[in-house]
Amino acid sequence: MPYILECKNLWKWYPSPEGRLEVLRGVDLSISRGEFVAIVGASGVGKSTLLHILGLIDTQSDGEMYFDGNLFDNINANDTAFMRAQMVGFVFQFHHLLPEFTALENLLIPAMIAHKNGTKAKEHALNLLSELGVAERKNHFPAQLSGGEQQRIALARALINNPEILIADEPTGNLDSDNAHKFMQLATKMREKFELTIVLATHNIELAQYADRVLRLKNGKLMPEE
Ligand SMILES: Nc1ncnc2c1ncn2[C@@H]1O[C@H](COP(=O)(O)OP(=O)(O)O)[C@@H](O)[C@H]1O
Ligand SMILES: [Mg+2]
Repeated sequence: MPYILECKNLWKWYPSPEGRLEVLRGVDLSISRGEFVAIVGASGVGKSTLLHILGLIDTQSDGEMYFDGNLFDNINANDTAFMRAQMVGFVFQFHHLLPEFTALENLLIPAMIAHKNGTKAKEHALNLLSELGVAERKNHFPAQLSGGEQQRIALARALINNPEILIADEPTGNLDSDNAHKFMQLATKMREKFELTIVLATHNIELAQYADRVLRLKNGKLMPEE
């Protein structure tokens, strides 16, 4: 079985007035299907940059990225968008829920965009909200929810279209310690239930311990955390 995500000598640089800003300088990474990997490192080391490439939001400057066994290189934007929509769910530091819609509607909108059957999608959405302990919040608007609830609903939304990969970029960055642990416990439960592959970026080494494997990004390269 090929790795679900694999990088070989991956480079990413951004143009800047002083020349190129090299953020990733030869990252090698192999993630097996169903694995939970945490990437740790100080703010600004390039964790989000790497996660955006793994999640097909951005492309590398050089090197190879294999997504579900396919070399991601010059694949056209439509194919990339299709694969991303089929396979990847995202949770970010900020929940990015649509403020004008209820929690349930926030889950149903991406399901509708993916042409999912309305009745089934609603059933799945209600199940997810229930699994994540926010079923009784389904008719609330984002502004009426606590930070912990907002992130749990963002997690439910990330899972509504049954992705194989969950990319979580500092998902607990705005939560207190209790809510951060609760979020990680629920993400772990969802991983088991749906056989998810999870890539988590965090600067919090304590929360990284929920992963099978912790890697540190430093000076543009990844190494196993001691
Ligand atoms: N689109 C961009 N253009 C230019 N520089 C960027 C861009 N995105 C990120 N950077 C820079 O790349 C470095 C790594 O950023 P980032 O991946 O967000 O790190 P982290 O997520 O670890 O905090 C930072 O110095 C940041 O300023
Ligand atoms: Mg970041």
